[in-house]
Amino acid sequence: MMAKVKTNIGNDFCPQALFLYGTKQEDGQPHFGLFCWFGYFDSPEGLGVMACIGEEKQTKDLIRKNGVFSANLVSEELLPLADYYGCTYGRNVSDKMKRLPKVEWGEVLDVPTISDSPVSFELEVKKTIPMGGGSDIFLCLIRNVTKDERLLDTSVPFAERLLQAAPVLASGEETYSSVDGRYLGKWGEPMKSLPDAKE
Ligand SMILES: Cc1cc2nc3c(=O)[nH]c(=O)nc-3n(C[C@H](O)[C@H](O)[C@H](O)COP(=O)(O)O)c2cc1C
Repeated sequence: MMAKVKTNIGNDFCPQALFLYGTKQEDGQPHFGLFCWFGYFDSPEGLGVMACIGEEKQTKDLIRKNGVFSANLVSEELLPLADYYGCTYGRNVSDKMKRLPKVEWGEVLDVPTISDSPVSFELEVKKTIPMGGGSDIFLCLIRNVTKDERLLDTSVPFAERLLQAAPVLASGEETYSSVDGRYLGKWGEPMKSLPDAKE
């Protein structure tokens, strides 16, 4: 029989899909950061997203300033770049955006989205809940969704299309995994395979 034991407070084994949040910088260029504290809520105005951003960072500066951002699902193909965006602190690294994915702009909101991401949300912030210690929860309405058109072919079983989308999960212990359970590296490792990585 399974025995359950008291353990540290944390969310290991509770997989979260990873997203790249896209914001527009003051110079009009796109900015991206990597995030996993992301959930959904229902509201009379439609489906909403709750996004928690911890300490102060450039993505948060830009979300506060613009009131809009995009959330782009990270696929396995995007992981090396996403890992770089997650391990590089934009406020300190002025040329963080020297590496860019193929960028499009939102259909409804003025936000950069990632062409190769299987699912992109355009988000408008409706409420900000400060949790103290620099942590904030942004409650947003989804104003638009764009998807890889192959994911819309319902003659293909959903589970197959999910494997096609290949979202990357943060499932615990600072590691990445695939939806079919493959280990995709520790945080900070996938970026080493970028073509212009030094190491
Ligand atoms: C796998 C992973 C998940 C992350 N999830 C979050 C998150 O949900 N909330 C958060 O505030 N930071 C998160 N981060 C940290 C940010 O990506 C990091 O602070 C990054 O510097 C943000 O980009 P920016 O500094 O350009 O805004 C995560 C990092 C990694 C590697």
